[in-house]
Amino acid sequence: MNTIIEVKDLYKEYPGGTKAVQGVSFEVQRGEFFGFLGPNGAGKSTTMNMLVNLVKKTSGSIKIDGFSIDTDADEIYKRVGFAMQEVGLDETATAREMLQLHGRLYHMKPAEIEEQIKSLLKLVELEKVADRYASTYSGGMRRRFDLALSLIHKPSVLFLDEPTTGLDPHARQLIWSHLRELNKQGMTIFLTTHFMEEAEELCDRIAIMDGGKIVTEGTVEQLLKKHKAKNLEEVFLKTTGSNIANEEVNLKASDPYTRNR
Ligand SMILES: Nc1ncnc2c1ncn2[C@@H]1O[C@H](COP(=O)(O)OP(=O)(O)O)[C@@H](O)[C@H]1O
Ligand SMILES: [Mg+2]
Repeated sequence: MNTIIEVKDLYKEYPGGTKAVQGVSFEVQRGEFFGFLGPNGAGKSTTMNMLVNLVKKTSGSIKIDGFSIDTDADEIYKRVGFAMQEVGLDETATAREMLQLHGRLYHMKPAEIEEQIKSLLKLVELEKVADRYASTYSGGMRRRFDLALSLIHKPSVLFLDEPTTGLDPHARQLIWSHLRELNKQGMTIFLTTHFMEEAEELCDRIAIMDGGKIVTEGTVEQLLKKHKAKNLEEVFLKTTGSNIANEEVNLKASDPYTRNR
């Protein structure tokens, strides 16, 4: 069994009628580094959030490591780690304390938690600042800390939503090297990014989403050939943008998050 993520005909309609995901199907193989690209509003975060059960799907099927999200969400929860967009940090907890708390939430034994914290702090190079409030970290440190948090329970699949957005090139390189190391150790990684260079550098295979659908998929090499493009950015520009008005349409939709005036 080499397929670790299996998604079929996935749909999401938010209250108010925004059809964020409209029939998405794909597979990710064990150990693969899979990239999810697409313009803002394409539905990347929604798709990813449905895969880790943070957002409830409208229809379709999701299987992770052979477990269906409909019947075995708990099993999936144990196997996935995630660092999503827009998570807050406790103002008065140190990085070590937050890692300990997360370990306990996953019912890990204290000794196992301590051992894992030690190895994760080393991996993300935060050993020296582990006892500082995490809320005082720089952007790059925050992202590395988020990464450590998502790994505390030794997941087999890691979901990262724009892990390097807003980081300077040094901080980005550091995250890349940590992700490469994790992938080398056998971890399956599913990542969204707006950086074409990041996808080219890291990903074995890439899917591009636009308007709630996957518009193309393949290795970088396959994509260049298929779309007669000289780089990934050109593939991106050629395959997306038809739904650029979508975001505005969705903003105007009479959903509960829009104030009527
Ligand atoms: N919680 C939500 N409620 C209603 N609409 C949402 C919500 N989250 C996202 N959307 C809408 O769903 C669409 C896809 O958004 P998203 O999945 O965040 O795209 P991406 O991550 O590709 O930028 C957008 O039109 C967005 O406005
Ligand atoms: Mg997003």
